[in-house]
Amino acid sequence: MRICVIGTGHVGLITCVSLAELGYEVVGIDSDEEKMEQLTRGVSPFFEPGVQEYLTKGLAAGNLRFSAQPEECIPDADVVFVCVGTPARATGEANLIAVEQAATVVAKHASGRTVVVEKSTVPAGTSARVKRTLQRECTDQAEELEVVSNPEFLREGMAVEDSLHPDRILIGAEAEWAFEVMRELYRPLTDQGSPLIETNIATAELAKHACNAFLALKISYANALARICERAGADVVSVADVMGSDPRIGRAFLNAGLGYGGYCFPKDLVAFERLAARSGYNFGLLHEVAAINEQAIEAAVDKVKDALWNLEDKKIAVLGLSFKPGTDDVRFSPALALAARLIEEGARVVGYDPEASTGAKAEVPEIEIAPDAYEALSGAHCAVVATEWGEFAQLDLERVKSEMAYPVVVDGRNVFDPQVMRAAGFVYYPAGRQPVL
Ligand code: UDX
Repeated sequence: MRICVIGTGHVGLITCVSLAELGYEVVGIDSDEEKMEQLTRGVSPFFEPGVQEYLTKGLAAGNLRFSAQPEECIPDADVVFVCVGTPARATGEANLIAVEQAATVVAKHASGRTVVVEKSTVPAGTSARVKRTLQRECTDQAEELEVVSNPEFLREGMAVEDSLHPDRILIGAEAEWAFEVMRELYRPLTDQGSPLIETNIATAELAKHACNAFLALKISYANALARICERAGADVVSVADVMGSDPRIGRAFLNAGLGYGGYCFPKDLVAFERLAARSGYNFGLLHEVAAINEQAIEAAVDKVKDALWNLEDKKIAVLGLSFKPGTDDVRFSPALALAARLIEEGARVVGYDPEASTGAKAEVPEIEIAPDAYEALSGAHCAVVATEWGEFAQLDLERVKSEMAYPVVVDGRNVFDPQVMRAAGFVYYPAGRQPVL
């Protein structure tokens, strides 16, 4: 089966390398010629475990290539994945211009039966618009083109693993022949045990938003609990453990802290709320989820202020800058939102991240970057753990204390044990747990 993937961002490139790994002939298409050259040379444009390795492997095996010329590859494709960006407009709605452009390109160059797969996260109803574009732009053989929704559930940092061992594969389609092509495409994964769920197209589109919004809701629930626990003398980690031991609830995504970030949850939640509003339903719950998420940052700022009084002339070390560990992605990173707030309050912020320093500096130019955690902590009046990279839990606390001007730690991700911090002589503010003062 021959496959084209339009868009070689996070979702697109991982789709390329994973399908090449399954043995298909894959061409990644992107209008960014420089990026196509870089990928052809075998260099991944971003850090994501496994991508570089599978990129090298696919290029060497000869079944993976990249092109800026859609006319060269789309005519031969049986399946075209649309993996272009769907950024938020100022209103919060998803901007679908790139999806429309991709549909136009496919309509222009497709030849013979071709399945057009929406993999970008799009609002329910988008496939109908894509179909209409295909029909308008490809009048001679529009019936040969079928639209399918196949949302991805990849977690950054685990994306290749999630792609090759998915916990579910979701296919929304209309025509039986399109379902059959997708079943065949994913047979290597269903044979190894991944379940395939078949629905109509609108259901598949909506299910993706429903999953992301629900996971965000779980996180905000934990963060709201954290605020109450702090006031009531309770411990949010234990509360989450109790909740999580009920299999109907589950422990995952109940970790309180600085809240969720990244390119999916914040954007998808607002887009879902906008979609609901457009269809005449006020999904106010989602609005509250986003508000609680923002309060999580403010709660951490309040702790820093509580510890340091005025922030002018204070040095604050922010440990972790990516939106979560295991990635260099800083888009909508809670760590950077916090750093920006501390800078706004007059603090000097020195950040450290094992992977995301360059991206962080580009996003918040006022932040100073240290080459390692101890350097960031040197002379700091307060340390904030903003992203739970494994190395932070391994820090030598004696050395941390001797490097810092004041031994104050605001733990935005509950990385440390409060008892250990007490014994080590720190003033310690966790999230949703009792502080050590
Ligand atoms: C998410 C979904 O998990 C994935 O299925 C979807 O396809 C894309 O969006 P991702 O954005 O990579 O994946 O990150 P995820 O691991 O879900 O974490 C999102 C954010 O929530 C991070 O900022 C993380 O730190 C935060 N988080 C997660 C919490 O604050 N608490 C938790 O308990 C879990």
